[in-house]
Amino acid sequence: MATSREDAVSLDQGRLVRRPRRLRRTETLRRLVRETALAPDDFLYPLFVVSEHDTKREIASLPGNFHWSPDRLAAEAEEIARLGIPGVLLFGLPAGKDELASGAYDDEGVVQQAIRTLKAAVPQLLVVTDVCLCEYMSHGHCGVVWNGEVLNDPTLELLARTAVSHAAAGADVVAPSDMMDGRVAAIRAALDTAGFSQVPIMAYSAKYASAFYGPFREAADSAPQFGDRRGYQMDPANVREALREVALDVEEGADVVMVKPALAYLDVIAKVRERFDLPLAAYNVSGEYAMVKAAARQGWIDERRVALELLTAIKRAGADIIISYHAKDAVHWLREEG
Ligand code: PBG
Repeated sequence: MATSREDAVSLDQGRLVRRPRRLRRTETLRRLVRETALAPDDFLYPLFVVSEHDTKREIASLPGNFHWSPDRLAAEAEEIARLGIPGVLLFGLPAGKDELASGAYDDEGVVQQAIRTLKAAVPQLLVVTDVCLCEYMSHGHCGVVWNGEVLNDPTLELLARTAVSHAAAGADVVAPSDMMDGRVAAIRAALDTAGFSQVPIMAYSAKYASAFYGPFREAADSAPQFGDRRGYQMDPANVREALREVALDVEEGADVVMVKPALAYLDVIAKVRERFDLPLAAYNVSGEYAMVKAAARQGWIDERRVALELLTAIKRAGADIIISYHAKDAVHWLREEG
């Protein structure tokens, strides 16, 4: 911050002394003083698995991303690992839905099959699983519904069963995204009892009721059939509440905490980073990705430069882990710039 005295020094004898532009003059100088650098290690790449055979189908709302059948995942896993991306975040579209989300904790379910395939194909690639019930519920809500209400406590048992089933199939990390109160503690207890005390929990701690999830709900077929998620996901207007949510998840045993979405919530990421010392993930969600894709297709923005600028902003705000549909592209671009 320039004080008036510094300004005087800076203009000493009519000479301009402070010239921040000196360090911007060449790319090598800029590299030397750059504060934030993206790397392949920063990313997790989301994958959507469908209960089909021999399927690789582009997702209309997420161009460049695909619906995969478990039997086609091995080659994709190899490519992701070859790029140096540490892991994937798995979502499942089950064969059938019901009122108890039984597909979520079916040991032969689509995610469980995908986990086994991925771990067999590329053991060192981390498989992180999204633990939620919305894709498996006929009504599309993230919990058990009774009389039009999403019930908290009865949902915890189903989430815990889902997490244990994922761990039993070989998941390296489980990531609850449902926003029920107390789910981190319930999942931790169930994992420990089942012999999975080594499996970390990456908690979607501050997950907002965001309109930016639109393209995902098409991709995951998980739009609620009535109402919305504002009764359990957070109000976009709140930041102090996000800190309370993170504190609760830390108390309950979360190993990694998350802010989601990322771009409209960079202030939340920065505040969580300041207040907590756990690894912090940020989810660059489907709507954020789709906006960039759509504008780029119109020729209005340069996709590569905009995407790298946004991902850098997420890291600069304080995220250690970035979940992004642009992860693979970003690594390709970083290598080309390299
Ligand atoms: C499941 C879940 C959602 C996302 C991740 N896990 C959708 C939702 O909460 O409605 C959104 C991811 C994205 O938009 O990219 N509950």
